[in-house]
Amino acid sequence: MSVIRIIGLASQSSREIYYLDYDLEKNLLSWLREKGITIASSCDGEGVCKKCSIQNDWLTCKLTLKTFLERQKDGKIFVSYL
Ligand code: FES
Repeated sequence: MSVIRIIGLASQSSREIYYLDYDLEKNLLSWLREKGITIASSCDGEGVCKKCSIQNDWLTCKLTLKTFLERQKDGKIFVSYL
Protein backbone atom coordinates (compact mmCIF):
# COMPACT_ATOMS: atom_id res chain seq x y z
CA MET A 1 0.00 0.00 0.00
CA SER A 2 1.30 3.45 -0.93
CA VAL A 3 0.11 6.94 -0.19
CA ILE A 4 -0.78 10.10 -2.06
CA ARG A 5 -1.04 13.42 -0.26
CA ILE A 6 -3.71 15.88 -1.41
CA ILE A 7 -2.88 19.50 -0.53
CA GLY A 8 -5.38 22.36 -0.74
CA LEU A 9 -3.60 25.49 -1.94
CA ALA A 10 -6.08 27.93 -0.39
CA SER A 11 -6.43 26.26 3.01
CA GLN A 12 -3.02 24.54 3.15
CA SER A 13 -4.87 21.58 4.62
CA SER A 14 -3.93 18.12 3.45
CA ARG A 15 -5.19 14.59 3.43
CA GLU A 16 -3.52 11.25 2.79
CA ILE A 17 -5.09 8.65 0.55
CA TYR A 18 -3.83 5.11 0.24
CA TYR A 19 -3.78 3.14 -3.01
CA LEU A 20 -3.02 -0.38 -4.08
CA ASP A 21 -1.41 -1.64 -7.29
CA TYR A 22 -4.77 -2.35 -8.89
CA ASP A 23 -5.67 1.36 -8.55
CA LEU A 24 -2.80 2.45 -10.82
CA GLU A 25 -4.68 1.99 -14.10
CA LYS A 26 -7.74 3.88 -12.88
CA ASN A 27 -8.63 7.29 -14.24
CA LEU A 28 -7.33 9.84 -11.72
CA LEU A 29 -10.53 11.91 -11.65
CA SER A 30 -12.66 8.85 -10.99
CA TRP A 31 -10.26 7.49 -8.39
CA LEU A 32 -10.13 10.77 -6.47
CA ARG A 33 -13.92 10.93 -6.44
CA GLU A 34 -14.07 7.32 -5.32
CA LYS A 35 -11.91 8.36 -2.36
CA GLY A 36 -14.22 11.24 -1.47
CA ILE A 37 -12.16 14.07 -2.93
CA THR A 38 -14.35 16.62 -4.68
CA ILE A 39 -12.94 17.60 -8.07
CA ALA A 40 -14.91 20.03 -10.23
CA SER A 41 -16.00 19.03 -13.71
CA SER A 42 -18.60 20.23 -16.16
CA CYS A 43 -17.61 18.29 -19.30
CA ASP A 44 -17.81 14.81 -17.79
CA GLY A 45 -14.19 13.96 -18.57
CA GLU A 46 -14.09 15.19 -22.18
CA GLY A 47 -11.03 17.34 -21.49
CA VAL A 48 -12.85 20.55 -22.43
CA CYS A 49 -13.85 22.40 -19.25
CA LYS A 50 -10.40 22.33 -17.56
CA LYS A 51 -12.11 22.42 -14.16
CA CYS A 52 -10.61 19.11 -13.06
CA SER A 53 -7.06 20.42 -13.05
CA ILE A 54 -4.43 19.76 -10.41
CA GLN A 55 -0.89 21.18 -10.19
CA ASN A 56 -2.50 24.19 -11.95
CA ASP A 57 -2.84 22.60 -15.40
CA TRP A 58 -2.85 18.80 -15.35
CA LEU A 59 -6.28 17.42 -16.22
CA THR A 60 -7.23 14.59 -13.88
CA CYS A 61 -9.73 13.31 -16.44
CA LYS A 62 -6.87 12.61 -18.86
CA LEU A 63 -4.47 10.90 -16.43
CA THR A 64 -4.36 7.53 -14.78
CA LEU A 65 -3.03 7.25 -11.27
CA LYS A 66 0.07 5.61 -12.78
CA THR A 67 0.78 8.41 -15.28
CA PHE A 68 0.28 10.97 -12.52
CA LEU A 69 2.86 9.20 -10.32
CA GLU A 70 5.32 9.03 -13.23
CA ARG A 71 5.11 12.84 -13.48
CA GLN A 72 4.89 13.64 -9.78
CA LYS A 73 7.26 11.25 -8.06
CA ASP A 74 6.54 12.49 -4.53
CA GLY A 75 2.84 11.71 -4.99
CA LYS A 76 1.63 15.16 -3.94
CA ILE A 77 -1.53 16.48 -5.55
CA PHE A 78 -2.14 20.22 -5.35
CA VAL A 79 -5.74 21.34 -5.69
CA SER A 80 -7.11 24.86 -5.42
CA TYR A 81 -9.44 23.86 -2.61
CA LEU A 82 -9.79 20.86 -0.33
S1 FES B 1 -13.51 17.06 -16.52
FE1 FES B 1 -13.55 18.71 -17.92
S2 FES B 1 -11.50 18.91 -18.54
FE2 FES B 1 -11.46 17.27 -17.12
